Amino acid sequence: MILLKGKYVRDSIIDSVKDYIDVGIDKIGIVLATDDKSAVIYANSQIKMFRKYGIIVDFFNPDPFVKEVNILNKIDEWNENANVYGIMILAPMYKHIDRTHIVDRIDDIKDIEGIKKINLGKLMIGEEAPCPPTAVAAIEILKFYDITIEGKNVVIAGRSVIVGKPLSMLLLRYNKMGNATVTVCHSKTENINEVIGKADIFFSAIGKPGFFKASTLKNNAIYIDIGINVVKENGETKIVGDILPDELEHLYAYTPVPGGVGAVTNAILLKNYVESKKRANIHCK
Ligand SMILES: NC(=O)c1ccc[n+]([C@@H]2O[C@H](COP(=O)([O-])OP(=O)(O)OC[C@H]3O[C@@H](n4cnc5c(N)ncnc54)[C@H](OP(=O)(O)O)[C@@H]3O)[C@@H](O)[C@H]2O)c1
Repeated sequence: MILLKGKYVRDSIIDSVKDYIDVGIDKIGIVLATDDKSAVIYANSQIKMFRKYGIIVDFFNPDPFVKEVNILNKIDEWNENANVYGIMILAPMYKHIDRTHIVDRIDDIKDIEGIKKINLGKLMIGEEAPCPPTAVAAIEILKFYDITIEGKNVVIAGRSVIVGKPLSMLLLRYNKMGNATVTVCHSKTENINEVIGKADIFFSAIGKPGFFKASTLKNNAIYIDIGINVVKENGETKIVGDILPDELEHLYAYTPVPGGVGAVTNAILLKNYVESKKRANIHCK
């Protein structure tokens, strides 16, 4: 049974893109317009990562009374700045801000999270575009460990716009890391354990600690646990996935949490940044 550790995948992705960064010149714009604790943690980890690789972070962290127009003005400023190759908008946002308005304002090429309607549409029709990093990370792990997806019976739990849906589109692409038979489950799916029990590869992104059990999966199945859930156990704070690793011997491979998909997501974000930079430079020529 193979433990699909994310760190090797992360390192190889970063090695393949880091030389494209102009250290101390390239910039990223990040908006954190919330006091949500998970978003703050997520923002800090992104900022640390971009700075580590020499990208200047322009961090816009306005007070709770900020007007939508002030955020839009900031996006316009970044859109016009030729050294800013990526813009990220952390979710959620203060309740009075319409996140759709903000996301829509980002230049299509600078949308490194792949969350603009146009980029999601391009993903749907198979055109080149930035893709939501978590969905890509889940597939990159399998690719790194030489596990092909083509022809497999794949089940995804979760249908969010940033994880489940884009993942389903990637798994339907016409290549060896696609061409899967895809079933997408959600909170209204009946007999869900029966469905996942038939999966060759099971991806979970529901955000519920230990909701599924590894023992439910069939022999030689693979699971990719995308869930990141903070729980308290014996007074200690821990991060666990959606899948309880109650029995692992019968599986072919699985990702740990932490140390699985989460470790790779940031690397894909950096890769998306570099790809946006390449696209922007082609555009200028
Ligand atoms: N590893 C990473 O880098 C990374 C990045 C982003 C997110 N995540 C994690 O991934 C998880 C999902 O994130 P998200 O933003 O996609 O969450 P989300 O927007 O809350 O979506 C959750 C999805 O799970 C479904 N769901 C909820 N309870 C279910 C149940 N009992 N059975 C089946 N489906 C159920 C929901 O169904 P309905 O549509 O019917 O409500 C929904 O489609 C979270 O733990 C998050 O922290 C990880």
